[in-house]
Amino acid sequence: MTLLALETSCDETSAAVVRDGIILANVVSSQIKLHEEYGGVVPELAAREHLKNLLPVARAALRAAGVAAPDLDAVAATQGPGLAIALLVGCKAAQSVAFALNKPFIGINHHEAHLYSPWIDAGRAEFAGFQPNVSLIVSGGHTLLVLVESELKHRVLGGTIDDAAGECFDKTGKLMGLPYPAGPVIDRLAAQGQPDAYDFPRPLLHDANDDFSFSGLKTSVRYFIRDHPGLLDDPQKIRDVCASVQAAIVDVLVKKTMRAAKREGVCCVTASGGVTCNSRLRQELERACQRHGFTLRLADKSLCTDNAAMIGVLAERKLLAQAPMSSLDDEVNPGWSLS
Ligand code: KG4
Ligand code: ZN
Repeated sequence: MTLLALETSCDETSAAVVRDGIILANVVSSQIKLHEEYGGVVPELAAREHLKNLLPVARAALRAAGVAAPDLDAVAATQGPGLAIALLVGCKAAQSVAFALNKPFIGINHHEAHLYSPWIDAGRAEFAGFQPNVSLIVSGGHTLLVLVESELKHRVLGGTIDDAAGECFDKTGKLMGLPYPAGPVIDRLAAQGQPDAYDFPRPLLHDANDDFSFSGLKTSVRYFIRDHPGLLDDPQKIRDVCASVQAAIVDVLVKKTMRAAKREGVCCVTASGGVTCNSRLRQELERACQRHGFTLRLADKSLCTDNAAMIGVLAERKLLAQAPMSSLDDEVNPGWSLS
């Protein structure tokens, strides 16, 4: 079975060709540079950029895969959640191609697709199978903890009640005058800072639920900077703040993920989303999983951020399982939450 998958939910335009679990091509065009000067993703600009890039990206994927459009058995696209006008570009294009080829269209939930990215073996470019797990999805827009019982069967355990983890990295970075997106910059500066230099709060760490909250941490960094004039003039102190903020975010993410996995009786943890590129998060999850004898599957760094490969992999699993198909005139679903 050969599928073309499109992803345009936020600021990455991506197209992938998947055949029988093998990623024949996965082309990603990132818009980070475009949004940098605005300090965040501007939906109108994102949509225009998707319009400009989608066809070249899709053609490049088909070419790299050695697949012609008539060879496709189905076309998939992210249907939600995401920015409405950005989702429209990929979703309507996929529906049009499916209509023209008289093939099925599969609308995919972006978060459900993230559950599959840790299982894509990037070296062999194939979907490597699945075992029950607790999955952490951490990006600029979302922080979710999901129990994945089996393929196509999952239950959301918790999520953020305010800012997402990536948003916390980006906003605290902005308070320190770092460029957008600040997550990777904080990661780099933190490598030369002391994680225990400053004690920032670990919100909801000891609450019995699986929810997260990061806006209080951001506020506490704001007050800390206000109350320590001159701090930002000292490069070492900036590195220490970066390391301490990063430690607080990672501490909460790792402890709550491990606690949920133990409680749910699964011995496998997975993670994906842009924040999963964070070196401390990767290290600490590894350490915690080793300590508990758990299997850890971290999405390859190339697949942590948004990509169409994960959309295509999930779409193929759905087709094979004969899950209910989407309709060619289905609308995008910007607020489509995973249940
Ligand atoms: O998944 P993603 O590319 O886009 C969405 O938000 O959907 O995630 C981007 C987020 C940004 O907040 C960025 O700062 C964060 O991921 N990020 C990181 C790192 N790399 C990207 N955060 C911490 N450390 C990193 N190395
Ligand atoms: Zn994502």
